[in-house]
Amino acid sequence: MNYPSKLTVNQNIADSKLLSPDYYTSDQYFSKSIDKIFLKSWQYVNHANLVNHKVSPFYFMKDLIDEPYLLIKDKECTVLSNVCTHRANLLCVSCSDNELIQCKYHGRTFNLSGKLNTAPGFEKAKNFPTKNDNLNTVPLKLWNNFIFCSVKSPINIDSIFDDINKRLKNYLFNDLVYDKSNSKTYEINAHWALYCENYLEGFHVPFLHKGLNNDIDLNNYTTELLDHGVLQYTNEKSDNNIYAYYYWIFPNLMLNFYNWGLSMNIIEPLDKNKTRIKFLSFPFKGNTQPTNNPSSLDRIELEDQEIVLNVQKGVTSNNYNGGRYSPKHEKGIHYFHQLLCRYLG
Ligand code: FES
Ligand SMILES: [Fe+2]
Repeated sequence: MNYPSKLTVNQNIADSKLLSPDYYTSDQYFSKSIDKIFLKSWQYVNHANLVNHKVSPFYFMKDLIDEPYLLIKDKECTVLSNVCTHRANLLCVSCSDNELIQCKYHGRTFNLSGKLNTAPGFEKAKNFPTKNDNLNTVPLKLWNNFIFCSVKSPINIDSIFDDINKRLKNYLFNDLVYDKSNSKTYEINAHWALYCENYLEGFHVPFLHKGLNNDIDLNNYTTELLDHGVLQYTNEKSDNNIYAYYYWIFPNLMLNFYNWGLSMNIIEPLDKNKTRIKFLSFPFKGNTQPTNNPSSLDRIELEDQEIVLNVQKGVTSNNYNGGRYSPKHEKGIHYFHQLLCRYLG
C-alpha cells in the first residue's frame, strides 16, 4: 500500500527521481488537485462562431467541478454564474435569446450583464439590492475567437498565447472551422496526468508511432519550456517545414497547429483513474484533418491511449517505486511535475 508523502521533484532533471507514484493513486492528491489546480485553470468553453444564442448554460468541468455558468453572447462574450442570488435555483437549463434572465422559482430577473433587474416580494427588504444580489461575473479569456473561462484566481497563461501569436503570426486563425465529424470524445480508465505526460515527450515516437516516425525528423525535435506551458515542434522528414507546433497549457489543454488546421485535446479528470479526452478538430476552411493513414491523428491517439492504459496498471503496481527522467527527452514532463509540486506542495 502506498501512502501520500510530500510531493517533490529535484529541480535538476539529471539528479531527479520521477514524481512519486503516490500522486496517481491517492484520493487526497486527486481532490487537492481539484482545489489547487483545476479551480484556477482556464478551460475551453466554445468557439465564438459556434455560439448561436444570447444565453447558453454550461458546466465548468462537467462531472468534476460542475460549476453552473451562463455564456452570454451580447455585444461581447461574457460568462456569468447560473445560480440565482435568492435561493440558489439554477436560472437557465436551456439556451435562450431573451434580453432578461428570469428565475423560475420566485420570478427574480437579471439583465445580460448579470445586474438584478426586478425582485418581486423584496419591496420592503432593507439595504436591498446590493451587488451581492447581482450574478457573479466569471473570469473569461477570448483568444482568436476561442472562449476560455475559470473559477477563481486564474493562472496567468497569457505568455503562452503571446508565444503562439508571435510564432504563428501568419496562421489563418480566422479561417479555422470546427469539424464535428472528426472530433471525438473518449473516456479512458487512467489518471489524467499520465495522458499529459505521454503528450509531453517525443521520446516514445520511434517505438510507439511507427507511422508518425516515418514522417517527422526526430533529430530536430525541440522542447521549449514556457511559463505554465510546454512547446514541442519538429520538421517534416521530406522537407524542412515544421510538421506541427504542439502547445500544452497547464494543466490539461493541448493545442496542436498543423498545416491543415488546429486540433485541440482537453483532458478532463473524472476520477483519479478515469479521464475524459475531448479531441476537437478545427481545419482551415476547405481543408479536412487527414484520417485513416499510418501517421494520422486518429491512429496516433489510439496508440497513445493504449499505452496510457498500460501505464495506469503499472503505476499502481506494488513493484513500481518511481523511475528517473531522461534529461535528453523528458524535460517537458519534469516541468509539468514541478508545477504539480508547486501547486500541491
Ligand atoms: S431562487 Fe430565484 S427568485 Fe428565488
Ligand atoms: Fe504519442
